[in-house]
Amino acid sequence: MGYPKVTVVGAGQVGATAAQLLLLHDVADVVMIDVAEGLPQGKALDLMHLRSIERFEPTIVGTNDYADTAGSDVVVITAGLPRKPGMTRDDLLAANSAIMRSVIAQASQASPDAVFVCVTNPLDIMTYLAWKESGLPSQRVIGMGGVLDSARFAYAIASKTGAPISEIEALAMGAHGDAMVPMPRFSTVNGVPITQLLDQSDVEALVERTIFGGAEVVALLKTGSAFYAPAGSIVAMVRSIIGDTGDTHPSCVYLDGQYGIEDVYLSVPARLGRGGVEDIPVMPLDDDELDALQASAQTVAQAVDSLGLRG
Ligand code: NAI
Ligand code: 2OP
Repeated sequence: MGYPKVTVVGAGQVGATAAQLLLLHDVADVVMIDVAEGLPQGKALDLMHLRSIERFEPTIVGTNDYADTAGSDVVVITAGLPRKPGMTRDDLLAANSAIMRSVIAQASQASPDAVFVCVTNPLDIMTYLAWKESGLPSQRVIGMGGVLDSARFAYAIASKTGAPISEIEALAMGAHGDAMVPMPRFSTVNGVPITQLLDQSDVEALVERTIFGGAEVVALLKTGSAFYAPAGSIVAMVRSIIGDTGDTHPSCVYLDGQYGIEDVYLSVPARLGRGGVEDIPVMPLDDDELDALQASAQTVAQAVDSLGLRG
C-alpha cells in the first residue's frame, strides 16, 4: 500500500522543514509547491538525496503546477510573506490575503477531499479566509497556531521550573498573536497546575514569554521568523489527521457557539482525525478565562470584518 499524499504549499523555511519532518517520520509522500521556479524542485531533490542516508521510504516532488498536487489527503498552506521592516499589519493582511485566495482556489480544486491546514499569518484571519473562499465544510479547514503557542508555554515552564519537558503539559488558546490566551490553570508539571507551584508574578512572566515567544525568535534571527517548532507543530497535526487518531490538539477551528463565540476561527482544543475536526470538547473555563478568550475572539472578528468576510 502506498503512502498518503500531503501537499505543502510554500517551499520556504516553514514549508520545507515541515516537508522534511513528514519524510523523516515516514508520514506521507510529499508534493511541495511554490511560485518561485526551481525552489521547490531544488529542495525536493536535496531531500531525495537524503533518503538513502536517513532510510525513509516516502518521496517528495517539487513543482510549480497544481496538477501535481491532485488528490492530496492533506494540504498544508505556508505560502505567504513575513512582515518586513516598514510594513504594517494591514499591509501584511492585504498581501497574504491575495496569496491565500489564489492558493486555496487552486489547491481545493485539485484536492477537493483534502483536509487543509493553514499556517500563513495572520493565522486566525487567513484560516477564516481559506474556509470562506474554499466553500469546504469548516471541519476540513484548520489552522496551526495553538500547538506552537502551547509548545512555547511548555518551554517557558520547563525553563522556570527545571522540570523535564516530558512532565509538562501546557495549553495556550485564542488568537495566534498578541491576543493569545495561555491557560496556567490547565498547564501542569507532573499533573500539578503551575498556579499551585509558582507565584502569581512568575506565572504572569511565563504567560508574557509565551505570548511574545515568536517575537523573541524574530529579534534573535533578525531576518525571518521561527520555523523548526512551527514545522513540528504542523506535522503533529498532520499525523493525527492522516492516522485518524482523534488526538486532541489546540487547533485553530471554526467556532459556532462554543465558549459563547460565533463565526470566528480561534485556537481551542479539538480532536483531529481523517475528517479534520472530529470534535471540539469544551474546556471548563472559569469566568476570567472565558472573558479573556472572548476578548481574543473579538480582536480576530474585527480583523475578519475588515476584509468583509463574516456573516
Ligand atoms: P518564507 O518566506 O521562508 O516562505 C514563504 C514561501 O511562500 C516562499 O518560498 C514564497 O515563494 C512562497 N509563496 C509566496 N506566494 C506564494 C504563492 N502564491 N503560492 C505558493 N507559494 C508562495 O516564510 P516562512 O518562514 O516559511 O513562513 C511562511 C508563513 O507562515 C508566513 O506567513 C509566516 O508568518 C507564517 N508562520 C506562521 C506560524 C504559525 O504558527 N501559524 C509559525 C511560523 C510562520
Ligand atoms: C511565530 O509565532 C511568526 O507566527 C510565527 O513564530
